[in-house]
Formats: sequence, C-alpha cells, structure tokens
Amino acid sequence: MAFLDDIRHYWDDDAPTYDASHQHRPTSPMVLAAWAAALEAVLPPAPARILDCGAGTGFLSLLAARLGHDVTALDLSPAMLDRLKSNADAAGVTIGTVVGPATDPPDGEFDAVMERHLLWTLPDPAAALRAWREVGDGRARLVLVESLWGDVDPIERCRARVRRTLDRVRATPPEHHAEYAADVRSSLPLGRGTHPAHLARLAHDAGWRTPRLRRLADVEWAERAALPLAARIVGVSPRFVIVAD
Ligand SMILES: C[S@@+](CC[C@H](N)C(=O)[O-])C[C@H]1O[C@@H](n2cnc3c(N)ncnc32)[C@H](O)[C@@H]1O
Repeated sequence: MAFLDDIRHYWDDDAPTYDASHQHRPTSPMVLAAWAAALEAVLPPAPARILDCGAGTGFLSLLAARLGHDVTALDLSPAMLDRLKSNADAAGVTIGTVVGPATDPPDGEFDAVMERHLLWTLPDPAAALRAWREVGDGRARLVLVESLWGDVDPIERCRARVRRTLDRVRATPPEHHAEYAADVRSSLPLGRGTHPAHLARLAHDAGWRTPRLRRLADVEWAERAALPLAARIVGVSPRFVIVAD
C-alpha cells in the first residue's frame, strides 16, 4: 500500500530525533518508575513472551525487558528499530526485532501483544486488532497503552492548544521532525485522535473478550510533577490502558 511506504519513510526520518522528546522517552526516574509500575500491573507475570507492535525506539519494549519479560519488537520502520537496538544495548537487555506491518505479526508463542501510540497511525486499526487476536493461538492478552488526544474530546483539544502555546513561549523543540502529509492523515481512521470508548469498541468488535479500561493516573501524576510550573497547571493528556483477553 502506497500510504504504508509514506508512513515508513516518515518514521525513518523521525528516528534520529524521536527520543529527544520527553513525551516519547522520559528520563525522569520518577516518571519511569510510574511507567514500570503501570506496565507491570497489566502484563502477565514475568517472564512472559511479549510482542510490542509499533515498538518504535523501544519505550515499552525496554520497560518490559527490564521487568524480566522476553520481548519481540515489531515495527514498520527499520530506522526506529535500529534506535531500539542501540537503546537495548545501552540498557544491557536483549530484545528481538522484526521489520514489518502491524497487521502481519510474526509467528511465535506470545503471552501478550502490546502497543503504545500505534493505533492512530494504522490505515486499518480494526484489521490489526483482528490479526493480533490470532497471536499465540488466540491465548495472548491485549494491552493497548494510549492517550486521549485530538479532536475526539473538546476539553483535551483546548488543553492541547494551551500546551502548544506554552511550548512556543518556552521555545520547546517540536516532538517530530514534520507533520504527516494531510492526505495520509485524513486516510487514517484514528488520525484525528483516540478516545477510550472508541478503542474499547474496536477491541470488542475484533473479538477481544471483556476489554478493561484503566486510567494511568500514577503516570500522569508523575509526569505532571516533573513539568515546569505553568505547564503543570495545564496538565498532561489523560493516559489509559485497555486490557483484553
Ligand atoms: C508514535 S510512534 C510510537 C512508538 C513507540 N510505541 C512508543 O511508544 O514510543 C509509532 C510507531 O509505529 C510505527 N508504525 C507506523 N505504522 C506502522 C505499521 N503499519 N505497522 C507497524 N509499525 C508501524 C512507526 O514506525 C513508529 O515507530
């Protein structure tokens, strides 16, 4: 699909600077500790075999590996996975990598399929959720780590606008090297934002049993505490996880 090539090129170009954003790769020990606790609570007991889809530079993969899991990272972008491998080497953990689309997960025994911030950029997120349903002979757990953002919620849209203004005032570098092309973004079903109600429905419709929603309040609290004062008043995007079997 032509759009997939555009998307791969975008992320190959984004790879060199992706980790510079604290949103993408926090460095605060407090924030990392909150993320580790949040992930530990939703993954099967370690050591489990985990497939991280759209793994990027490995934020979730590294956390899971440090928690004692056996992690395979799948991503469309070879350059993002090269970064993941350097990050894994630097952290002293081993993570398997597979280059490919999320709708074509590798064969193998997996106890859980997880993703963070991948669904919005998939041309067919429902197809990916259905494909993941087959992972591990249908016995893997689904773990969707997401944020409420975009046009799907009017309050969050306003808060995001204020955050962008603060970022401009503080001359914070942009989170990405560029925007997606308008035609690519408009072709993505979740390209204008992700809402937990919509994702729970998508997971259910893809055959996942009993989707459970948790707000990642501890992560938000730690992220907010690590911000400069003015940004703390505006706060961070609501983070949540959907788990299903
Ligand atoms: C927003 S980044 C998230 C990366 C990582 N999960 C994180 O939390 O930092 C989106 C990632 O999804 C990957 N991606 C985009 N479309 C994909 C697809 N169709 N199949 C697999 N990976 C894809 C990109 O290459 C990129 O690494």
